[in-house]
Formats: sequence, structure tokens, C-alpha cells
Amino acid sequence: VSPFAPRHLLSIADLTPSELTTLVRNAYHHKATIKSGSMPTNLLGALTGKTVAMTFSKRSTRTRISTEGAVVTMGGHPMFLGKDDIQLGVNESLYDTSVVISSMVSCIVARVGPHSDVADLAKHSTAPVINALSDLYHPLQTIADFLTMHEAFPSTSSSQSHRGAGLGLEGLKIAWVGDANNVLFDLAIGAAKLGVDVAVATPEGYSIPRSMREIIDAAAASAPKAGRLTETTVPEEAVEGADVIVTDTWISMGQEEEKAKRIKAFEGFQVTSELAERGGAKQGWKFMHCLPRHKEEVSDEVFYSPRSLVFKEAENRLWAAISALEGFVVNKGKIE
Ligand code: CP
Ligand code: NVA
Repeated sequence: VSPFAPRHLLSIADLTPSELTTLVRNAYHHKATIKSGSMPTNLLGALTGKTVAMTFSKRSTRTRISTEGAVVTMGGHPMFLGKDDIQLGVNESLYDTSVVISSMVSCIVARVGPHSDVADLAKHSTAPVINALSDLYHPLQTIADFLTMHEAFPSTSSSQSHRGAGLGLEGLKIAWVGDANNVLFDLAIGAAKLGVDVAVATPEGYSIPRSMREIIDAAAASAPKAGRLTETTVPEEAVEGADVIVTDTWISMGQEEEKAKRIKAFEGFQVTSELAERGGAKQGWKFMHCLPRHKEEVSDEVFYSPRSLVFKEAENRLWAAISALEGFVVNKGKIE
């Protein structure tokens, strides 16, 4: 690795617990400042004259809009490059694409299929690469999710009010009911780092792969106060004592052919008030989902209820994107 190699954000595993905390706290502060009509001075025109390439091989609503909006807020030019816009994959290799794009832009935000695609892009890029979703990770979503929890649970611990402190989420319990996928993996890594417990319920055969479990456990091992990860095939067990119940689609992009099989396998895993009650979730439990949502994984009654944080969570993607661009582009990976 050259001493001039940029720092990339491919997974929450790339961050120390205190860096993750800082990214979430900065997102929180920038949200308040910008919503009140001002601009944080260090972000004002911070990307003026700079281009951020957004190479997306899959569709996106939130990630695209939040990234484009974040770049514009900071004065830069977001250049969206869908899979039919560039030569990549059809006419040109990942290596050549990475070298060429990074020679002309200040950052590449990439949404890919296999994680190795974004890892290879980063390996050869002279500009920072931010993972906008791979089959293994979704770091921008995780930053937004912890921002959402930080807002929804302000008093979980007494240590949240001063700068540099934790997020005040230690001891919180997340129940993940559904598929063990990219969104869960980064969320679980982040939770391990922040002292948040996660109970995962998946159907038999859909649990966290062993190699990923090792990565999550390594994140816990290096955290000063690690969150605990437990796994079950019984949704009721996972939701017991949960502060937040989280799910995602049962059919991620690229798994469309498995739809019928998965819908059958996940029967009984829909998040409903009855499930929360049967399992004994905390009285004030909240619901989160990265979206897009389908009715099979959560009932309308929960999804559109006051418990549901989903639309705040979606908006928080903008503040997470601003914070990530600040950390990895403006401050060149020095996150303190
Ligand atoms: N949550 C999320 O990443 O949504 P999009 O696929 O719409 O970007
Ligand atoms: N798990 C989903 C997340 C979409 C934002 C997918 O990979 O399609």
C-alpha cells in the first residue's frame, strides 16, 4: 500500500468504536445546524470544484438521493453513473475503470453486487471509495441507523451529552427478525463496537454465515465495551426485552430467483404487534427498516404506527452521507 493511498469506507469494520461514534455524532450535529438554516463552517464549499463519482450497478432511491444531496450541500458535483452509462463490466475491467475514474474525481461512491468488486475498486483507486451497498455491507445505512437510535433513545445512558462521549446506546437491545444480510452484518459490527446487544432470529438455513460471524466477533473483541450477539430460529426469543425490532427485505437485490423459496422459508417471521407482545418486547419498542419495504416482512399496522422510525431513518441517510463525505473526503480519513 502506497503511503499516499486514500482511506476507504467499505464496512463499519474499517472504523474504531470512537470513529463510528464520531461519524454518528457529526451527522447529528450537522443535521441540527443545517436544518436551522446555517452551514457548519468546515463544510461550507468543502467540495467546491470537486466531483464525486457514483457508480451504481443496482437501483437505489435513498442512497442515490442522499449522496447526491450531500455532495451538493457541500458545493461539489455528484456524477451518477448507472450500469448502462459506463464501460465497466461490458467493455472495461474493474482495474482500468478504477484507475481512470479515480484520476479525475475526489471520491467514488460505489454500489456493487459482490463485495470483492468494491474492494477491488478501492485497491486500485487513488481517491477514497465509499461502499454504497455490497452483498456483505452497507456502512452508510449503519451510520444512519445509529443516528436514528441516538435520537430515539436519548437517555439510555448518562454519557451521551458531551463531545467525544459515546452515543449513549450502551445496553440497548436490537432484535433483528428476518434475513441475515448485508444490512444486518454492518449493523451487528457497529453494535458490537458500541456496546449494543443484538438478537438475531432467522429461519433454519438462513443464519449468519460462519465467516461473517467471525468478523462480527472480532469487532466485539476489539471494543472497549462490546455488545453481545445471540442467534436463534425463534422470532419470539429474539424480541424478548428488545428496545428496537429491525428487519429488511427477505429478498435482497440479486436474489429475485429465490423469491418463492424464501417467502416460504420466512413464514412466521413477519414483524407484527402480536409477535412483539408474544415475545415480550419492551413496552415502548420501536421499529426500524432500511427500506424499500414489502408487506411480507412487516405488517402495515407496525410499519405506519408511531413506533415506526422508518421515515426518520430514511432521512438520516442524508446526514450520514454528509458525515461520511466529511470524514473520508474533506478530512481524508482523519476522523476524530
Ligand atoms: N436503504 C437503501 O439503501 O435504500 P436504496 O436501495 O433505495 O438506496
Ligand atoms: N438487503 C437489501 C438492502 C437494500 C437497501 C439488498 O441488498 O437488496
